[in-house]
Amino acid sequence: MTYTPEMLENIKQVEATRSQRLHQTFPAMSLEERTKLLNTFHPDYIKESMREIRIGVEKGSRMPNELADVVEGRPHIGADFDLSQPEFETDVLIIGGGGAGASAALMAEEAGAKVTIVTKLRFGDANTMMAQGGIQAADRPNDSPAIHYLDVIGGGHFDNFPDLVEALVKDAPQVIAWLEQLGVMFDKTPDGTMMEEHGGGTSRKRMHSARDYSGAEIMRTLRDEVRNRPNITVIEFCPAVELVADKQGRVCGAVLMNLETERYFFTRAKVVILSTGGGGRLHYQGFPTTNHYGATADGIAMAYRLGAKLAFLDTMQYHPTGAAYPEQILGLLVTEKVRGLGAQPVNIKGEQFVYPLEPRDVEAAAFLRECKERHLGVVTPTGQHAVWLDTPMIDLLHEPGTIEKALPAMVRQYKRFNIDMTKVPILVYPTLHYQNGGIAINADCETNIPGLLVAGEASGGVHGRNRLMGNSLLDVCVFGRRAGLTAGRYYKDAKPGEPTLAHLETWKKQRDEAGISTPLRSPILLPDYSRKG
Ligand code: FUM
Repeated sequence: MTYTPEMLENIKQVEATRSQRLHQTFPAMSLEERTKLLNTFHPDYIKESMREIRIGVEKGSRMPNELADVVEGRPHIGADFDLSQPEFETDVLIIGGGGAGASAALMAEEAGAKVTIVTKLRFGDANTMMAQGGIQAADRPNDSPAIHYLDVIGGGHFDNFPDLVEALVKDAPQVIAWLEQLGVMFDKTPDGTMMEEHGGGTSRKRMHSARDYSGAEIMRTLRDEVRNRPNITVIEFCPAVELVADKQGRVCGAVLMNLETERYFFTRAKVVILSTGGGGRLHYQGFPTTNHYGATADGIAMAYRLGAKLAFLDTMQYHPTGAAYPEQILGLLVTEKVRGLGAQPVNIKGEQFVYPLEPRDVEAAAFLRECKERHLGVVTPTGQHAVWLDTPMIDLLHEPGTIEKALPAMVRQYKRFNIDMTKVPILVYPTLHYQNGGIAINADCETNIPGLLVAGEASGGVHGRNRLMGNSLLDVCVFGRRAGLTAGRYYKDAKPGEPTLAHLETWKKQRDEAGISTPLRSPILLPDYSRKG
């Protein structure tokens, strides 16, 4: 056991109230209570944490300071970069090799296109791979896409783009069937029925999972399928650094960088799909993150320079339960499924202080209040704040062995540090998890720039101002597939003209006029931990 003597002493308080808590239902908050809590404690509502972007089509709109610095950055190449000799040509160029990129590739290839996926790291190094809890779909008799729709819109503070939500929830059951047919091994009861749990803010049990490595299982399956398709080429360790349009403003390729040799080269395409994911590695406000190493908001920076409209980039998701102890796993995801199965958040007095399945932003704000205002959180030896997540409750609520069976990856993660989460609670604290907004798209994944489609976490609109659990794996599949289908229709008639990087001259002029002289090269591609001391 690596808990400190003080922590072990405190666990006795949590144990002392457990049997009483087992039989109590903590009330969910009213809309008024939620609003007040968010305004006071959620990181998005800290005014100084965001600023207005000074240039570009969304000049004046707000985003986190760290993201604004990247978006306003200096491109890798100049407008005079030689585009006369493309290194290769393809029908559909997909930038990003996570769940959205892989889903798009499969659909575009089925439509007859020659597809190339380029990835910054390895194919599958993406937040899809890191997702644990599951994927939502309304496929039970007591549920419907309409009920799913209401949950999504409510979770998103009623700001979501309605046509995107409609696409998400209507495609969902079909996506589950598609994934299963491709080989995803969803959790089932012995009679073959899908096991489905609640997530925060959901009114029905519709979370389909593969234990607590649902994303890895989905990514494994999609990646295998892509590898088996002869008309899809995957090029790893070659991130895009600039999008290229023709003189009519139609996207016709990208400049890529060979990560090993640092050589830049142009690749031409009839249509480009951006599926570059989010930006958790920008560590907004110093928060740790659940995100994979390459999550540096590259797609936002590239698309914005070319004039893409954005949506909801002033809202980020802080997952309530990031690991807070031991230090070696700080910020890593403790899946919401743990609370979905019944574990309660508890303070140092052994009191439950919040309904366990509030929408994520509300739940995270309640954890912050418990630690920062009420001072009823644990403080670890390194000064990290935390609350207890009473995991042993799960086996008491269900049957012995449930934790080991439903959460094997989590159990293993803690066992490495001699913490047996089936017997003792674990320490958690909010961690930067997801980019709620992104590049604005319509239900066919089109942006305001012809020839540029976007899918997955890089896009914005479907989740409004707060995403619910399990709608991210769903998002990457639904909109990845839709982007692939749109590209499959589009590439046949697309005849892009002469490529140009003229937008970089405009960009330079705008930077100069706004007095921006920061040397930060954008996209940053990899997080720079040396700068953070
Ligand atoms: O808690 C989780 O397992 C995360 C899921 C999600 O972000 O959708």
